[in-house]
Amino acid sequence: MSNQYRNDFPLLRQGEGTEPLIYLDNAATSQKPESVLRVMEEYYRKYNANPHRGLYEISVKATEQYEQARRVTAEFINAKEEAEIIFTRNTTESLNLIAYSYGRSNLKEGDEILIPISEHHSNLLPWQQLAKEKGVILKYLYLDQKGALKEEELKEKLTKKTRILALAYVSNVLGTIYPVKDIIQKAHQVGAVVVLDCAQSIPHLPLDVQELEADFAVFSGHKMLGPMGIGVLYGKRELLEQMPPFLTGGEMIDYVGEQEASFAPLPQKFEAGTPNVGGAIGLMEAINYIKQVGYGQIAALEEELTAYALEGLKEIPHLTIYGEKAFTKNRCGVISFNLEGVHPHDTASILDADGVCIRAGHHCAQPLMRYLGLAASCRLSLYFYNTQEDIDALITSLKKVRRLLGLGN
Ligand SMILES: Cc1ncc(COP(=O)(O)O)c(C=O)c1O
Repeated sequence: MSNQYRNDFPLLRQGEGTEPLIYLDNAATSQKPESVLRVMEEYYRKYNANPHRGLYEISVKATEQYEQARRVTAEFINAKEEAEIIFTRNTTESLNLIAYSYGRSNLKEGDEILIPISEHHSNLLPWQQLAKEKGVILKYLYLDQKGALKEEELKEKLTKKTRILALAYVSNVLGTIYPVKDIIQKAHQVGAVVVLDCAQSIPHLPLDVQELEADFAVFSGHKMLGPMGIGVLYGKRELLEQMPPFLTGGEMIDYVGEQEASFAPLPQKFEAGTPNVGGAIGLMEAINYIKQVGYGQIAALEEELTAYALEGLKEIPHLTIYGEKAFTKNRCGVISFNLEGVHPHDTASILDADGVCIRAGHHCAQPLMRYLGLAASCRLSLYFYNTQEDIDALITSLKKVRRLLGLGN
């Protein structure tokens, strides 16, 4: 199966970068298309300047492009206004900002925070720290065999005491797509604020924050074809308005006296210091690229690849897939598995010798791994530029692993 998009990605093209490169670690970070690299280089070559400060032409252009990136991002996720888009470094920083600023000023002893056991450490540790500091109770939702949340448990644990429900739209370990619209509605019925971690969803699924009524939504540019070092925090204006600043310093002030200061309006209040202009411009171009391909086309390509990968993996003796084992509409192309008797790091190293990149480890989700009874797993994660040939190479390589280690088939 050829893929019309693959050629847009220099690292994936034959003859450039490591060769051959079978890149199946897209949940960790995506590859970047030529157009994203081009606009970033153009910025650094032609109008690199500190925005919001200079009164000269290139600084004005840098400011315009940075603010245009904010508008494009707002429109992309259907935020009501661009002031609701805060640029951060990544998903992790966005989540810390919410826990630090919203959490510390709104939660008190005895309040509860509810999160699924499957959360990435980035959507767990900020809440754990907050819980310790404020005497808040951090509660978990556990999963069924297929990686889905249990309705009964949600009903039982989501109560008037729940002040924050924080969850990923898509699991970075099992690929499960959670029914977030329904969960958000239920959380709102008890008055909880919902923080939606879209790090693994936005590369594959559209995000409409108004339709979902998400209170906060966060994601990273680098997992959706953009550069590293730029992330997004969306928050409803009424929440962001009442939150104190997270970081303080230049760019985020209105007036500074010797003993007190007043802060700039949104979004600058939350963007202290020189921003990542090149990153924002790269993110804007990544959004344009995704829009050109279209989420419909992305889903169609990934569905076919995921079903093909799951079928291929089933052929391999002594291989266990965790979570949902078949292709369903409730999953993305993230598949965790292990080969019996083989440490996942050994599997990944043997695959690497064939140019196949997968991830092995705890995937920054230690509580989930413990819940699944695992120390570690292998994880392959697909994106629309992957091909059936990539999966064939993975399967061929996987078939060798146990034999090479003297474990038979
Ligand atoms: C679900 C989820 N949340 C948060 C993160 C953290 O993203 P970042 O490292 O870009 O901050 C990741 C990264 O893998 C993730 O998969």
